[in-house]
Parts: sequence; structure tokens; C-alpha cells
Amino acid sequence: MVARLKSDPIPRRRLLTAVAGLWGEVRWHEPLRDLTSFRIGGPADVLVIPADVEDLCQLVRQARMADVPLFMLGGTNLLIPDEGLAGVVVHLSKFTAIRDEADDVVYAEAGLKMPALLRHTVSRSLSGLEWAAGIPGTVGGAVVMNAGTRLGEMKDSLKAIRSIDLKGQVKTHAASTISFGYRRASVPKGIVVGAWFQLKSEPRKKVETAIKTYLHYRKTTQPLTRPNAGCVFKNPTQMSAGQLIEESGLKGVRVGDAQVSQKHANFIVNVGQARATDVMMLIKKIQQTVAKRTGIALELELKIVGNREA
Ligand code: EPU
Repeated sequence: MVARLKSDPIPRRRLLTAVAGLWGEVRWHEPLRDLTSFRIGGPADVLVIPADVEDLCQLVRQARMADVPLFMLGGTNLLIPDEGLAGVVVHLSKFTAIRDEADDVVYAEAGLKMPALLRHTVSRSLSGLEWAAGIPGTVGGAVVMNAGTRLGEMKDSLKAIRSIDLKGQVKTHAASTISFGYRRASVPKGIVVGAWFQLKSEPRKKVETAIKTYLHYRKTTQPLTRPNAGCVFKNPTQMSAGQLIEESGLKGVRVGDAQVSQKHANFIVNVGQARATDVMMLIKKIQQTVAKRTGIALELELKIVGNREA
């Protein structure tokens, strides 16, 4: 699923073909800013909120026929350009079902928020996802980037994924067929619509305490009350990007309304009306300053939508 910039426009006739007859919501020129944790980004040509898996399959098939790019909006670890996005942006906010499939296996749809998944697993005394306490993203977003923290990552409890391939067919893939790296998962091309998690029964008190302790750590060390997109850079091997940025004297540095957090230097916070261009200039400034001082090239964890690597 690729993002297309507005500088490469798509004829309206093709967009109409892609979204014809869908049962879900189809919103033209919809601002994306409020669907992102950074509160940054221009409008989509069309935003589609599919009603269900069948509706999404129809969209995938029609978009392929009309040669219209689909972009899956996860919302938390990305920066959307100020000009917005061409083509169809897909938001899975109606995919929020959760099902117990065995004593220790849970299926969650891709649009479910990670905190909701965690509340469910705690209520069933299931352990395995405590590392995700405080992560605001969706199940689908967390799967495709193998989200994680120092305590664990998605791959540790992922059993299988359900996805729609580029031809609009629903497929199931065992986690053992996917290769995972640091904030990377080689999920087959298409759209992840749900995931099965293999968890472990533990005393509820133990699961709750692990989550509370970790949430407290995050609240005291990370700027969770300001719009942000999580950690901006990957940690270089055996090092903390936040520490390197702080030691380079960059905490509090601003470009427009984008600021290096005073609380955790690997976060950029939106202190008002930050633009994507402000964030990109600040990223460049951080990379140049850290490289000059330490010789280390900080690599982005944040996805800049429209960049070749996004
Ligand atoms: N540190 C500083 N200055 C800072 C930030 C951190 O000196 O501004 C120092 C801390 O004092 C600590 C060390 O760096 O000694 C590590 O800091 P922290 O525990 O906050 O962990 P991190 O490596 O900076 C990683 C993940 C976070 C995750 C935390 C906690 C990455 C890039 N970051 O951060 O994940 O929440 O551990 O588990 O892997 C994310 O992926 O979006 C994210 C925020």
C-alpha cells in the first residue's frame, strides 16, 4: 500500500470508480490531521472507512482496477505531508472486534486500539502484551511495524495474521512465515485486518502490576500529554537515541511549533500548529547535530509518508 503525494494527482473519474458502491463511509477532501497522534497533515482526496472485511475487499479490487493507490492510515507513528495525500486513504476505525478463540488465544481486528486490547487481556488474566502499556496505536499498526519497547515486542505473542491481498482475497498467515526485525515485519503485501495472539494465563494481579509499573515509567519519562508520534529515531545498537540527542544539547530546540521534548529528547512534540515541514527541518537539524558531535547517523523510526521508505 503506497502513499501518493498531491503533486502526482489522480483523475476524479478513477477515484469514483475505486469507491463506487461501498457501504462504509466515503469522505471527500477529508482532513487527516485529527486522525493522527501528531495532529499534523493535510487532506486526503478520499477517506474511506470500510464497513467490514467484505467492503474492504471490494475497495481493494476496485482500486486495483482503477489504478488508484490505497494508503492505510495507522495514525501514530507517522508524519503526513501538509499538502495531504492523493488517492484513497483507508481508516479501519470500524474494525474493532475482539474474540476469545481459546483459553489463551485472542483475535483482535486491526483497527482496535492497543489500550483496548490490553484491557481485554487483563480482564482475562492473560499475560504477553504488558510491554504495550501506554502505546496509543492500533493492533494493525503495531503488527506491521513490530511495535515494541524494552520489555517486549509484537512478534513475541503474535500467532497469525489475517490480511487482504492485492487481489482483494482474505488470507491467513502464521507468524512463523513472517520475518521480524527491529520495528519491522515483512508482512505479505496487502492490508492486515486482524491478528491472533498467543498469550499465557497468569494471576491477574501480576499482569495488572506489570502494566501499572510500566505506565508509570512511561508517564514520568515521556511527553504523553502533548501531540507526538512516539520515538522519532531508532535506537542505535546498545545506545539510546534520546540520550545522544540530549547530550548534543538539543532538548527544547524548536522549528516553528515542532519542538524536541524537554522530557524525552527522542520525541518531537507539536506545541501548537506545527507543520510537517517544521518537523522535517527539525529532524534534519537533529541528525546533523548528532552526526557532527558523535559520528552516529540516526535512522528514522517515524514514517514520513510519501518518502520512498514510508
Ligand atoms: N535518556 C536520556 N535523555 C532522554 C531520553 C532518555 O538521557 O532525553 C536516557 C534515559 O535516562 C535512559 C536511557 O536513555 O538511561 C533509555 O531511555 P528510555 O528508558 O526512555 O528508553 P529509550 O531507549 O529512549 C525505548 C523505546 C521507547 C519505549 C522505551 C521504554 C525505541 C526507539 N524507543 O526508548 O519506544 O517506550 O524504550 O520501553 O526503541 C517508540 O517506539 O515510539 C518508543 C517511544
